[in-house]
Amino acid sequence: MVIKISLNSESKINYPFEKKSDPTKKTPCKIDVDKKNLPAVAKKRDLVKESGKESGEEEKIDGIKAVFDEIEELIGLGEVKTMIYEVQAFTEIQKIRKEENMLYEPTVLHAIFKGNPGSGKTTVARLMAKLYKEMGVLSKGHLVEVERADLVGEYIGHTAQKTKENIKKALGGVLFVDEAYSLSRGGEKDFGREAIDVLVKGMEDYKNDFVLILAGYNKEMNQFLRSNPGLNSRFPLHIDFPDYTQKELILIADYMYKAREYCPTLPAWRELEKSIMRILAEQSNKHGNARTIRNIVEASMREQAVRLMKSQRHLDRTILYEIDETDIYNAVHKRVFRTIQKSNSEVVPIKQYQ
Ligand SMILES: Nc1ncnc2c1ncn2[C@@H]1O[C@H](COP(=O)(O)OP(=O)(O)OP(=O)(O)O)[C@@H](O)[C@H]1O
Ligand SMILES: [Mg+2]
Repeated sequence: MVIKISLNSESKINYPFEKKSDPTKKTPCKIDVDKKNLPAVAKKRDLVKESGKESGEEEKIDGIKAVFDEIEELIGLGEVKTMIYEVQAFTEIQKIRKEENMLYEPTVLHAIFKGNPGSGKTTVARLMAKLYKEMGVLSKGHLVEVERADLVGEYIGHTAQKTKENIKKALGGVLFVDEAYSLSRGGEKDFGREAIDVLVKGMEDYKNDFVLILAGYNKEMNQFLRSNPGLNSRFPLHIDFPDYTQKELILIADYMYKAREYCPTLPAWRELEKSIMRILAEQSNKHGNARTIRNIVEASMREQAVRLMKSQRHLDRTILYEIDETDIYNAVHKRVFRTIQKSNSEVVPIKQYQ
């Protein structure tokens, strides 16, 4: 069986402002949100099936296609997506070469993910775990997400025990270690080093049904790999997660609102765009990316709920869908800018929306 996938790199995405809508209308969305119509970045991928009439193979192809559909729905991440297609293609081809008694490369899928918070690392790791399950590389395809505190213990023997427990939980799936660089932060005597050794042993002991992903900020991860030279060769996949652009953050907001059956008005989109510009300007590369957008989206839904409860209007579907500019303004100013102020320790006056 061969699964060929071609990726449309020139994916045209609709910017919410660019939708051809009646400018006199307040809401640019259709009221009945079609869940299947969520924004997809690359729609023109075809999946070509060749041969493979044996039982289960059709299901396998459908399973892989379903995961790729989910991956395509993610906004941006062009290079990450290309890398996932390459990994899938390479793994399939090596399997066929093996069947043909040709030389083949063993499948090693351990990976390093480098990127700022909220850049999509956990989301992509979860989808990759699912993909590997569909490809038959992993038996369960679940993700176990841990950080230093879950692996490193407080007394001799405790670290090995904690780390082994998490490896066991992850067997058949992916163990995702967030901020992995912190494992080598404490110097020679720190138990973090022991956790690294146990993880490396786990990679060898369970190499047929266990994938390890180490994630963290770009600079720190590069430093971590330099100070642990034995690690680099064990992780053939290095994936960079760039910060989202302003336009991508707007599209992520669009994606999140649609998935929750909400719809901002045009003035609300303008308010959101203004806020994102300010967040990017004030926080540079630690702006929280898609995570901040999710916080804004969820906070604006709560703001809307309070606004509607106070109003005397009849709550029909149109009103229930609508997020207005006050919802965005209050969500951003109460939750996001306050956090930015704290982290920048500078005072920016917070005023209620007029
Ligand atoms: N490209 C994307 N398209 C749509 N939603 C996204 C995208 N990237 C991230 N998200 C959403 O943003 C939120 C944060 O993403 P995620 O948790 O994957 O980031 P992360 O890099 O793991 O962050 P952290 O380092 O803080 O753990 C999630 O709700 C996720 O679904
Ligand atoms: Mg994460």
